[in-house]
Amino acid sequence: AETHYYDFMLREKNFTRLCNTKSMLVVNESFPGPEIHVRKGDTVFVNVHNQGYYGVTIHWHGVKQPRNPWSDGPEYVTQCAIQPGTNFTYKVIFSDEEGTLWWHAHSDWTQSSVHGAIIIMPAQGTTYPFPQPDAEQVIVLGTWYTFDVNKQLHYDLFVGADLPRPSSFVINGQPGGIFNCSSETQYRLYVDYGKTYLLRLINAAVSSELFFAIADHNVTVVGMDGNYLKPISTSYLVISPGQTVNVLLTANQPLGYYYMAIRQYVTNGYPDVYPPNTAIVEYRGNYTPPSSPVFPSELPSYINITQANAYLTRLRSLASKEHPVSVPINITHPMYIVVSVAGILCNESQCEIGMQMGSAMNNMTFLNPSTDVLLAYYRNISGVYSADFPDFPLNYYNFTGDNLPNSTAIPTIATKVKMLNYNETVQVVFQDSNVLRGAENHPMHMHGYSFYVVGSGPGNYDNVSDPKTFNLVDPPQVNTFRVPKNGWVAIRFQANNPGVWMWHCHVTRHLTWGMVTAFIVKDGGTPETSMLDPPPSMPSCASPFRNYIH
Ligand code: C2O
Ligand code: CU
Repeated sequence: AETHYYDFMLREKNFTRLCNTKSMLVVNESFPGPEIHVRKGDTVFVNVHNQGYYGVTIHWHGVKQPRNPWSDGPEYVTQCAIQPGTNFTYKVIFSDEEGTLWWHAHSDWTQSSVHGAIIIMPAQGTTYPFPQPDAEQVIVLGTWYTFDVNKQLHYDLFVGADLPRPSSFVINGQPGGIFNCSSETQYRLYVDYGKTYLLRLINAAVSSELFFAIADHNVTVVGMDGNYLKPISTSYLVISPGQTVNVLLTANQPLGYYYMAIRQYVTNGYPDVYPPNTAIVEYRGNYTPPSSPVFPSELPSYINITQANAYLTRLRSLASKEHPVSVPINITHPMYIVVSVAGILCNESQCEIGMQMGSAMNNMTFLNPSTDVLLAYYRNISGVYSADFPDFPLNYYNFTGDNLPNSTAIPTIATKVKMLNYNETVQVVFQDSNVLRGAENHPMHMHGYSFYVVGSGPGNYDNVSDPKTFNLVDPPQVNTFRVPKNGWVAIRFQANNPGVWMWHCHVTRHLTWGMVTAFIVKDGGTPETSMLDPPPSMPSCASPFRNYIH
């Protein structure tokens, strides 16, 4: 294994999209940001120099960082922000991940402009478990705001308004040919007839699940979230925010231009106000270019839950000799967590969507502490968090029913975390709820771990009949997976990574509203099963620096 060094310069820069120029914070002057390239098991030091106007942290999404939560990144959970004019070096430790992951800011909504790919090649002397592609390309899917999104976010939180919605989505930083001022700059993937390309798709969008398709071409899905899958051929796919999907694309169609397109996938009843975004797959060669590329008719409509679920149920771990699965079978620690979009300012008689919103897990809305949870745990500082996050709902009702009473929508606002003993085998059933008629998909993400998705289904989870449907042989292993609208998903993992790890919905608006907790996995009693010591200096928690007036 090797060690690599990167410097990340965080600085504001002007960008023009959708006929409009604005300044935004980026890394090394680029949007999306720079790629990190490693092999399985390497270690990377990233020195982050903050030359912007406000505090920022960076998270290495999907990198397990064994025993090293100090470099995981989420503000308030494992560190305080890197203040303007200062720097901090993250030590990013790779272990068994192989494929594509990504990094992103983990404070406010800076994630929208501060993100980039992490490419993890097989270890020296080993190869992909599929035919070697002729070339590779990262495809980052993101969001674009024509305004300063953090400024707007803080204003909306202050006045209790709905949180910002994007102006457009982007593919490798570009809105695409359907938008004004954008057709010349849309991303182009040049291909040669007969060759195969590995596309590394990353959903870095702030809050949206996305459908993806390429006109007239099937793709073969071979991996997800830094793990391999049994290859599946498909004409479209769905990708939740936080997830990565590796696909093989073979250029086997008549020479021409084909649109690669994304469309928002909406499960909460909002109308679709976004035209699809495009990039062009362009064959090299001598032919007359078409006046307009072919559009993928395979791209599902924005509310097509059936097609989204049909795709997701096909996912299976590769489960080969070189890439085995180890699904925990005997569960020592079962949990059942109801997720809800709640109303912070609700009371028994009055509670409406549009009032100041909150989000909750088992009715707990996470309150950001002023000292991070990791430091408080390590130093035994009391009063920062309480370790009583509930394993089960406090009240049982028909979670997915219509017309649920407003009382179900009033959360407790506190910094509650879950303690787990080392090596416990954990099953979590996440249950969506229709509180405030707010049923929708929630892509739940776990830091420090990946987990097996052993089952999913509609309605309220039934702990007698539903486990009979579980796949314990080759379930997909991911770090982010959606709780289905008005349904449930069951995941399993072994708590073998000591530390403090955030757990949250990757819909950033829900994260901001508090659909968050953290779990603390205790040390296992030997040096090799204990958390590493902190680096010589972590960013200080003393003086939160927030300045959006610049
Ligand atoms: Cu990709 Cu806690 O996030
Ligand atoms: Cu959510």
